[in-house]
Amino acid sequence: MIRKYNLDKENKVTDQRLFTRRREIIAGILSAPFVLNSPNLFAKEEKYLPFKKDMEFSTNEQTNTIKQITSYNNFYELGSGKRDPMINADKLITENWKLIVDGLVENPLTLDVEDLIKNYALEERIYRLRCVEAWSMVIPWIGFELNQLIKKSRPLSSAKYVAFESILDKDNLPGQRRNTLNWPYREGLRLDEAMNPLTIISLGLYGRVLPNQNGSPIRLVVPWKYGFKSIKSIVKISLVSEEPRTSWNEQSPSEYGFYSNVNPNVSHPRWSQKRERRIGEFRKRDTEMFNGYAKFVSYMYSNMDLKKFF
Ligand code: MTE
Repeated sequence: MIRKYNLDKENKVTDQRLFTRRREIIAGILSAPFVLNSPNLFAKEEKYLPFKKDMEFSTNEQTNTIKQITSYNNFYELGSGKRDPMINADKLITENWKLIVDGLVENPLTLDVEDLIKNYALEERIYRLRCVEAWSMVIPWIGFELNQLIKKSRPLSSAKYVAFESILDKDNLPGQRRNTLNWPYREGLRLDEAMNPLTIISLGLYGRVLPNQNGSPIRLVVPWKYGFKSIKSIVKISLVSEEPRTSWNEQSPSEYGFYSNVNPNVSHPRWSQKRERRIGEFRKRDTEMFNGYAKFVSYMYSNMDLKKFF
């Protein structure tokens, strides 16, 4: 399936140019989001976001093209094939989206996307995303640190974990008419992982609002963990006291652990995790511990057996 996906050089050049030009435009404007017409690579209205460029956590590796990022996806609500999320993108209804932050907090929040754009400092974070299926991409996300949102909710001292929930919409989402997973999609992090500055809530990529297939309008990105932890189309974030249940762990506990840190030394029961194919490349590369983010995150696991807590 991945081998069919050849690098489209021409497209790559176009994307890079577009991106550089757009950065210049954004640097000049940096105010309210606006609308522009450009190639139809994004599924909906092409709304640009204001952002600053992050220099601390971003990789300087070559980014994948918009075409690659929007046409090779995992988003089971929109189907289980890699192209299904792009094909069914318009089945995800994102109008009047609300994000709830609740649970063990002093200050529960109900926010819409405009609140987030207005009140949280958006940055471009260029992160590697390593999927458990042993492929990877490099994506220029636009987002802000989840810790900002959590701090605003003022967690109680009993809060130890953060639970995330995606949209439930069986009428419109074709994948939710099947029992592939126990819907809605759920994920979770330990509180220190959620507070780590690498963990972001993303509202966009390549300078624009998220295409539906990438988890519009609000998704999580946790770059040192396998991609399935980066839950899409979030409607609720709850501070909780116990390790929350998570969709893939519930589906197959021996294959998908709660932590799911990228770890080349712990194989998936059905395949090795030592190497990965960067989408667009032919030769496989070595997978790095914590997906290359060890210096930012390894301290959180120093007393843990990562073979047991996979
Ligand atoms: N979130 C939801 N709600 N549903 C999903 O099926 N798939 C996960 C994750 N988040 C998924 C999800 C998996 S397996 C991966 S690899 C990443 O999203 C893929 O993100 P991308 O398609 O934007 O690269």
